[in-house]
Amino acid sequence: MRSRAALLGIAVAAMAVWAGCRKDPAAEMPDPCAFPATPFQLDYHAFFPDPVIPADNPMTVEGIELGRRLYYDPLLSSSGPLAGKSCSSCHFQEHAFTVPDPGVPAIGNTNVMSHCNLAWATHFLWDGSAGPTLEDVMRYEVEEFFRLDVGVLRNHPEYPELFRKAFGTCEVTLPLVEKAMAQWFRRLTSANSKFDRFLKNEEALSPGEWRGFQLFFTEAGDCFHCHSMPLMTDNGFHNIGLDSVFAGQGVGRYAVTGNPMDLGAFKTPTLRNIALTAPYMHDGRFQTLEEVVDFYSAGAKHSPSLDPIMTKPGTGITLGMTAQQKADLVAFLHTLTDEAFVTDTALASPF
Ligand code: HEC
Ligand code: HEC
Repeated sequence: MRSRAALLGIAVAAMAVWAGCRKDPAAEMPDPCAFPATPFQLDYHAFFPDPVIPADNPMTVEGIELGRRLYYDPLLSSSGPLAGKSCSSCHFQEHAFTVPDPGVPAIGNTNVMSHCNLAWATHFLWDGSAGPTLEDVMRYEVEEFFRLDVGVLRNHPEYPELFRKAFGTCEVTLPLVEKAMAQWFRRLTSANSKFDRFLKNEEALSPGEWRGFQLFFTEAGDCFHCHSMPLMTDNGFHNIGLDSVFAGQGVGRYAVTGNPMDLGAFKTPTLRNIALTAPYMHDGRFQTLEEVVDFYSAGAKHSPSLDPIMTKPGTGITLGMTAQQKADLVAFLHTLTDEAFVTDTALASPF
């Protein structure tokens, strides 16, 4: 009996070892989909706050490269209402990722928005209906606006390998498309304008630019309350008095919140690279910066939802600037152009 029990014990032990041996090679077999993506350190202005980068979507060299390629690839709209278009069909690098024709807002009369420092944005689109993360706005862009058929990427000769390198998986899914594109958008940082070099004491402003700077950053022009440093936007929504009656898309933020005080309020756009992004305002109504400054000087209209910042003690809602002051303000706005951003080949089409 004892020896039979011992034999049984040995047999059980041998089976356990055998089972263990069977398991081990499988456990050691490398995952054919895994890939060690290269971490990417986002470079930004010392004056900027830290951007929010979701823990489940760290930036990698391969992820950004995939996002960049998707951005420039008309395959993204292989069918559907925008067939044949890529994101870059309306967002041109040399115009800080807006449309190049100053006379033509892209969709209906909605003006194209710049893609610059959106890693710091908390709401997207003129009425702020998308967000709060870049992954969220990419979901809107890719699934609702472009209606991407992800099968086109799955069956593509190159994309599955690019997804594997970016995310260490053999899957190609919409959430991964959106993660890669969000990484690419975080990469689009702009902080090397003349104004930035002036802030870092590397370059002087001309006398006119310096006077414009003072108008911008004091109550005289009062621009800085909304186009605030360092991103040149407060990430907020304001009715600046373009209209006094609001209908259709002109209701702005109200369409999202239903709050009457948001009637005619739109997202404060960054003024970085503003000289390159004509036309101006949510509906592209102004063709030049001179027209914009004329509006702020004398054109604002009253309405119950007009932002209180637009009313000036003594002068009501007009700034009443002289021709010289207006020219100075425009000269300052030109110092916000970042030539390196709009010519950086790492941000250009990979095709
Ligand atoms: C047909 C022209 C067109 C195409 C193509 C296009 N966009 Fe846009 N984009 C616009 C317009 C117009 C707006 C402003 C729309 C609005 O606010 O309603 C905009 C706004 C945006 C914004 C918001 C920026 C901000 O500051 O809030 C993001 C992000 C964006 N687009 C990303 C993309 C991506 C990603 C693609 C490709 C999937 C793309 N766009 C393709 C015209 C276009
Ligand atoms: C109360 C907040 C506020 C103040 C003050 C303000 N802005 Fe604006 N600015 C905005 C908003 C919001 C928009 C977008 C409005 C729209 O399209 O309906 C805008 C749009 C602009 C645009 C067009 C941007 C684009 O991409 O089309 C320029 C240029 C501009 N402002 C410059 C200035 C200057 C210069 C001053 C100071 C004289 C100033 N702003 C004061 C909030 C403000």
